[in-house]
Amino acid sequence: MNNKVIAIDGPAGAGKSTVARRLSERINFTYIDSGALFRAVTLKVLKCGIETDDVKNILYYAKNSSLDFINNSIYLDGEDVSSEIREAFVNSKVSYIAMIPEIREIIVNIQRKIAQNKDVVVDGRDIGTTVFPQAYIKFFLTASVEERAKRRYNELCDKNKCTLEEVRDQIIERDYIDAHREASPLRQAEDAILIDTTGKNIDEVIAEMLYHISMKG
Ligand code: C5P
Repeated sequence: MNNKVIAIDGPAGAGKSTVARRLSERINFTYIDSGALFRAVTLKVLKCGIETDDVKNILYYAKNSSLDFINNSIYLDGEDVSSEIREAFVNSKVSYIAMIPEIREIIVNIQRKIAQNKDVVVDGRDIGTTVFPQAYIKFFLTASVEERAKRRYNELCDKNKCTLEEVRDQIIERDYIDAHREASPLRQAEDAILIDTTGKNIDEVIAEMLYHISMKG
């Protein structure tokens, strides 16, 4: 594989998606939002009325769904679900769906297929450790839980009518599940560059990443 993969992992609300999208535009790489893939499968499962522990049916619906990125929007069975996948009912269930190894395998394959002949920036939880262990460069973004909760709250509150505390609790719960599951848990790869985004704006974080990328040549 001669094309380049930039892997960006980290906990919920660390700024990964915004930074990954902007970075991909700056350097003209394709952006893969792996969380959006897990969210879209979760949306499908919930819409079909399937419980999150009904693995057999979850796999059936996941295998019979079409998932595509078109211009950075995610399409589920031909419908743009980019907004719907960010809603609170998806947030509260997505980590349970992401625990299922067969679901992870499906989503890993989608990411690898997209990256087959393109330079990509990919963000998620297991990109540097599992999906692309040979990535050209790996970043691990983090921030204080208070700051991460505020960022998610500002994204969500008008749509979902929730409190900052509820968002904070949900982030803590999601991070716990993501970091403690058996199948490729959230973890910083040994060769990943750690960036704490607390108190930094997007431009500052991107500048830091571009510096590290330029040092690689
Ligand atoms: O990044 P985002 O918050 O959209 O991800 C939603 C959820 O999808 C995460 O909390 C996690 O459970 C799951 N996920 C994952 N592995 C990835 C990306 C996301 O398990 N690579």
